[in-house]
Amino acid sequence: MFKLKGSIKISGDKSISHRALIFASLCTGKVKIANLLESDDVMRTLKILRELGIKIEKKDKNWLVFGNGTGGYIQPNQALQCGNSGTTSRLMIGAVSSNPIKCTFIGDNSLSKRSMSRLSVYLEKMGAKIELTKKDFLPLHIKGDMNLLPMEHVMQKASAQVKSALILSALNLRGKTKIIEKRNTRDHTEKLMDYLKVKFKKKVLNKNSTSIELNGPYEIKPRNINVASDPSSAAFFIVGALIIPKSNITLKNIALNKTRIAFIDVLKKMGGKIKIKKTKTLSGEDVGEINVIHSLLKGIKISSTSSPYLIDEYPILSVAASQAKGLTTMKGLSELRHKESDRIKSIISNLSKIGFHAISKKDDIIIKGSKKISITNRVKIKTYGDHRIAMSFSILSLLYGNKLIIDDESCISISYPDFKSHLETLSILY
Ligand code: S3P
Repeated sequence: MFKLKGSIKISGDKSISHRALIFASLCTGKVKIANLLESDDVMRTLKILRELGIKIEKKDKNWLVFGNGTGGYIQPNQALQCGNSGTTSRLMIGAVSSNPIKCTFIGDNSLSKRSMSRLSVYLEKMGAKIELTKKDFLPLHIKGDMNLLPMEHVMQKASAQVKSALILSALNLRGKTKIIEKRNTRDHTEKLMDYLKVKFKKKVLNKNSTSIELNGPYEIKPRNINVASDPSSAAFFIVGALIIPKSNITLKNIALNKTRIAFIDVLKKMGGKIKIKKTKTLSGEDVGEINVIHSLLKGIKISSTSSPYLIDEYPILSVAASQAKGLTTMKGLSELRHKESDRIKSIISNLSKIGFHAISKKDDIIIKGSKKISITNRVKIKTYGDHRIAMSFSILSLLYGNKLIIDDESCISISYPDFKSHLETLSILY
């Protein structure tokens, strides 16, 4: 028998790491970044910035980025490879759009099936010249222009990536850009702009909706950035500790950004014993410790209004639901179909294969929890190359004597290269 026990510092946050690199590249001088997540996705952003003429070096454990100012990117010599990273592609397309350079963005098979028109429609309205493959996909060619027309955008779909791309574009444009979010999304870009003293106006329009107004162009003074640790990565061990008897863990340095830790409220409602203690603020983000002990979970209904705040945690919440008493219903998950894999399909097909009653109805997922399932023969879990599916089922596998065989674990390095070693550190045999 074994349990999860002890305390670790989780790796840097993926969303904040991308933004730390990009904003550092837009500063007028040297920025030191600490606790940068060195995952495949983040390294894609780093390499693209180098292609755009930004000097970036590693010194000891930190990264030094020599910013060239807004509008400071130079013409790259080759296509910009985004790999599997949606965040790299969307944010960098926005960032280059207001620079007088021509760029081609490419990605791996999964990314080449994900929509880019959800961003390009706004940039095209501003006057950017963009060619997409089959009107929606990478490879994407863009001719940037510092004279794009700043304007008001009303965001139809909830996407922090698209919002951030439009903000990055606006930083080098002369005049006012206004972005209205009908449904609020994660706000790391705004938090980092506050920290870097980039002035913008944020208005709360109602409980779910916000507007952001920028007036460019901006000169951003360098300031060192310390990246808070990733709550979405912590979520795997949090659920692990909840479902494995006798577990008791403390995860340190975690970003406690409200737009990211909604999954903790969900798990608490399910009966999870989780305590959060704020310890400090790191580069504009609240940070703290999370303590979790094994708990008996019960199924609940998760409404669609929280979906932008839970977007990356549905796979691991599904694992929690599989161990809860009764039914868990997760509503309004249409965006899950447009992630690294069709996550509705990846979740349902794998849980069903193990023997759980898990179905999708339109864009909802319904899971009936059961602790009675025993696995005699090995079950092969298909990750569809999706890092969050691989890690979620690796956690579930702990309950079944590792009889769940993950077909491809290599994708884990996309967001959390230290996942396995951190899991080993927390695993105690007794
Ligand atoms: C991210 C935003 C989310 C999330 C992704 C990272 C970001 O995407 O799924 O992993 O860093 O802005 P959307 O907001 O586009 O859904």
